[in-house]
Amino acid sequence: MSLQVENLTVYYQTLRGNVQALENTTFNIADGEIMGLAGESGCGKTTLGQSLIYLNPPMKYMGGRVTLNDHELPIADTKKMDDFRFKEISVIPQYAMNAMNPTCKIGKMTAELLESKKVSFKEVKAELDRRLDLVRMSRDVLNMYPIELSGGMKQRMVMVLSTLLNPSLLIADEMTSALDVSSQKAVSEMLVEFRNRGFVKSLMVITHDISILYQIANTIMIMYAGQPAEKASTDEIIHAPHHPYTKMLISALPRVGIIQSKKRLTSIPGTPPLLLDPPGGCRFRERCPLAIDKCQEVPPFIEIDNGHYVACWRQRNFTNLSL
Ligand SMILES: Nc1ncnc2c1ncn2[C@@H]1O[C@H](COP(=O)(O)OP(=O)(O)OP(=O)(O)O)[C@@H](O)[C@H]1O
Ligand code: SF4
Ligand SMILES: [Mg+2]
Repeated sequence: MSLQVENLTVYYQTLRGNVQALENTTFNIADGEIMGLAGESGCGKTTLGQSLIYLNPPMKYMGGRVTLNDHELPIADTKKMDDFRFKEISVIPQYAMNAMNPTCKIGKMTAELLESKKVSFKEVKAELDRRLDLVRMSRDVLNMYPIELSGGMKQRMVMVLSTLLNPSLLIADEMTSALDVSSQKAVSEMLVEFRNRGFVKSLMVITHDISILYQIANTIMIMYAGQPAEKASTDEIIHAPHHPYTKMLISALPRVGIIQSKKRLTSIPGTPPLLLDPPGGCRFRERCPLAIDKCQEVPPFIEIDNGHYVACWRQRNFTNLSL
């Protein structure tokens, strides 16, 4: 098992109180697995990805354990996490392509990054060249400034850099969101290629775009208001979801690759709760057409079938109810 997350709880400390952005989150990612992470804006996707790599203020670790390849990660200690970041666990952050230092050439930036990890540029230059070829980037890119690269080129460059030391886990946060459709497809396919070639063992791909996940993810985890609602194989999430929220989210999408529905698309009524003061019990209760009194208690995230996890008191009745 590559990654194991147990009861991870992370808040943002603000003047108005704690934003409970990640609550008791438990899931695994297996070796070779590409897990998509989806859910409405503000549900905690970036917080989860970020917590696994760089938990900086105002984020505050409140509890839980993260294990990578059977070693516990010191996620609450940003200094100790230096030993793992980039080498064992790497990230392509949301808005990464705008985060490159505009005054620094790509090659110099790469050398500095490697130096900070005590790896010499010379040592990895041949491999870097091979990978640039693989993503169809000219090696001349190392002599260029970020401003000279298109959005798609920047994303491919960030992808090469973040995986250069063959980390076990790569977290890609909305890396295709700002790209046109054909660049999105190319970049997504490269992620799969990197996994297939062993440059990364497993991936967490965060995106709003479930149609991309349909193409590349083995599994999808749906989050709602700071908690996982459902995790299952991509096929099951799209064609046979068990959580009402997943079902409503999928129905609200204009297209999910292959769904040929003649039904009208429906949006999910209401808005997610404020995480400064989320309701007790199931956080989806206010918007859920299936809610019952029992839903005032927090539903556990349990495995109902092989690799299919759901947090809902009524998931077993779900197929008999029309949503
Ligand atoms: N620096 C911060 N300070 C306080 N609250 C924050 C901060 N960053 C995020 N939050 C809150 O934490 C919650 C989760 O945010 P997060 O960015 O993880 O969501 P997300 O699912 O990645 O959203 P999006 O799809 O828009 O990227 C939200 O309620 C957000 O308002
Ligand atoms: S636990 Fe209850 S409120 Fe929550 S999703 Fe299930 S039925 Fe709806
Ligand atoms: Mg985000």
